[in-house]
Amino acid sequence: MARITLVQGDITEQDVDAIVNAANSSLLGGGGVDGAIHRRGGPAILDECRRLRAERYPDGLPTGRAVATTAGDLPARWVIHAVGPVYSRSEDRSGLLASCHAESLRVADELGARIVAFPAISTGVYRYPVEEAAEVAVGAVADAETEVEEVRFVLFDEPTYRSFERALQEARR
Ligand code: APR
Repeated sequence: MARITLVQGDITEQDVDAIVNAANSSLLGGGGVDGAIHRRGGPAILDECRRLRAERYPDGLPTGRAVATTAGDLPARWVIHAVGPVYSRSEDRSGLLASCHAESLRVADELGARIVAFPAISTGVYRYPVEEAAEVAVGAVADAETEVEEVRFVLFDEPTYRSFERALQEARR
């Protein structure tokens, strides 16, 4: 089981083996974490995303799946692009959010990544309530069979950090 740590900060500054991107199915960039990663990582990331679309995912990367590219100019070696679910009040999509984490760790294992940073996937543009998302994210990482030694959740603001802190305490009971 991976050690889980929490940091409040900017995921693009993390000097880790891989950072997970809160991407969308197009893999062609966006706002939030996605925008920050592409802006700081440079065009090499998008070039590889375009190739992935052309060669493996002509219809886009499905929700809940993850795929790796270079991290370009970022301190990390790889970016693992994961597509989180858009929140729905009528449908429980927590399984898809959990899958983003399990799949990202599976991809990390294929790469040989040992330290992996995650943002709070789906809690921004995709409007997933942070308390619920934190429980799902921490639970999925705690349950994962992985060679990854450290999973670092990098939270952009204090309220999100606090939600993950509570979820981590719950998981450790
Ligand atoms: N470092 C860490 N966390 C960040 C950063 C950053 N540089 N920038 C934003 N965040 C946080 C947000 O505050 C939020 O808590 O990441 C979390 C996820 O928010 P989004 O980036 O909006 O991602 P998500 O909700 O999964 O929506 C994905 O948004 O940017 C588009 O292309 C993306 O269509 C996709 C959608």
